[in-house]
Amino acid sequence: MPLLNILRFPDSRLHKIAKPVTVFDHRLKRLVADMAETMYEAPGIGLAATQVDVHERLIVIDTSETRDDLRVFINPEIIWASEEKQVFEEGCLSVPGIYDGVLRHARVKARALDTDGRHFEIDADGLLAVCIQHEMDHLVGKVFVEYLSPLKRNRIKQKFLKEEREERRHGQKATLR
Ligand code: NI
Repeated sequence: MPLLNILRFPDSRLHKIAKPVTVFDHRLKRLVADMAETMYEAPGIGLAATQVDVHERLIVIDTSETRDDLRVFINPEIIWASEEKQVFEEGCLSVPGIYDGVLRHARVKARALDTDGRHFEIDADGLLAVCIQHEMDHLVGKVFVEYLSPLKRNRIKQKFLKEEREERRHGQKATLR
């Protein structure tokens, strides 16, 4: 199964709004399998379809230490969130190497569909609650750096734009040879 290309901040495609999944077929199962493989390979604990340039409401998560507890959320919704909030140090496969604290609900109840289109609900706290909120943000075009101060966000943006320019320059050299 192929690994998928993960879009990197500040790619504008990360700000697209995902549409609900309506067809539960083999293509969907293959996409989920490819996304899971891409997440494990990265390695990461969550990946939203938006990050692989597929703009459908689908996320995969595995917050287990043993890396064998894949959770798939299709058309996820948060149906309850605690008033209590917590700051967690977050990172993102689309913003590699950057970690910073984000304030989120400490506990959430989410509802979603599985790959066969069956409803389920989950109560989450700790890292899983953080991860569900982080990945669901991706589906509405929001990257975690948008919670940081404009100064920090801009510094991160400039860093990635510079890296992109350098990669492009090296790429050109390679093709000239
Ligand atoms: Ni992310």
